[in-house]
Amino acid sequence: MKAASARVLLTGATGGIGRAAARQLALAGASLMLVGRSPARVSALARELAQSSQRSIEHFTWNVADLNDAAALGSLAQSAAAWGANVVVHNAGLPSFGALGSVSGPAMQQVLQTNLLAPMLLTQALLPHLQSLPKSQVVCVGSALGRLGLPGFSVYSASKFGLRGFAEALRRELASGPVKVQYFAPRSTRTEFNDDDVHAYNRATGTATDQPEQVAHALVQLLESEAAEAFLGFPEKLAVRLNGLVPEWLDGSFKKHRDSLPPAHAAMATRQSAPLTHLSSDRSPT
Ligand SMILES: NC(=O)c1ccc[n+]([C@@H]2O[C@H](COP(=O)([O-])OP(=O)(O)OC[C@H]3O[C@@H](n4cnc5c(N)ncnc54)[C@H](OP(=O)(O)O)[C@@H]3O)[C@@H](O)[C@H]2O)c1
Repeated sequence: MKAASARVLLTGATGGIGRAAARQLALAGASLMLVGRSPARVSALARELAQSSQRSIEHFTWNVADLNDAAALGSLAQSAAAWGANVVVHNAGLPSFGALGSVSGPAMQQVLQTNLLAPMLLTQALLPHLQSLPKSQVVCVGSALGRLGLPGFSVYSASKFGLRGFAEALRRELASGPVKVQYFAPRSTRTEFNDDDVHAYNRATGTATDQPEQVAHALVQLLESEAAEAFLGFPEKLAVRLNGLVPEWLDGSFKKHRDSLPPAHAAMATRQSAPLTHLSSDRSPT
């Protein structure tokens, strides 16, 4: 739908991509219910949007919720339905970088809960409302790593592959009704999401990064196009397609990525992959 007709429930609104998306959606005429965990930051963003878009503050409401808290998630869904949200952007997310052995069990659970289970539960809670509208959209913010698994991102990829599976299956399940389900896949983006280890890995592997404003622009385009999916950047777009068709062709391409894991991570990756080294077919990095 056109941004000007959208009433968007935006999670992770106070994060890097969330703020940029909120600004561009506001300028394009959308109304927003901003969701964050800090009342000060989320309310300040609402005021900023009203000022910068020169529209009434009525268009910019906000809600404080930890999406991993079932009660908070339930009351958020109720508020969003009462407010008349016709678009949900599941943008809140947590990073995870490092060899599998370096990620604690609780951290793993937190990532899966935040990136996968919370969007599923919030979608489920809002579905009766969204289905009662003539037209509505659910946008799942995934990642290129939701279709391309890279060394160091096994936990994060599990969450985003899961989210993509959820979006695809639900899109097909709801195809005869008013709710469109979309999957949006940025590549690496310059926000606080990525720590110094990820920056070093990106530099060493020649991984390009986008500005959050570019990502936000593409998000508005996806909303308005109503396309099923959008993947950002080249060569990521090509790599995810190839990986979908013949993943084994790519299996030998990531030695540089493994070698670029921080020392502690690399040591663990080497230890963990040791029993499988006889199966390795790594090509030299080019
Ligand atoms: N940056 C990248 O390289 C990149 C690449 C591809 C995809 N993505 C995806 O894009 C989305 C946004 O990422 P970003 O770069 O903007 O990250 P960010 O700056 O770290 O923002 C993440 C947002 O998620 C919110 N959040 C995390 N856990 C939450 C919880 N339990 N309850 C409520 N909110 C929670 C944070 O809330 P607070 O503000 O309250 O902390 C924050 O607003 C994520 O889904 C991420 O996976 C990012």
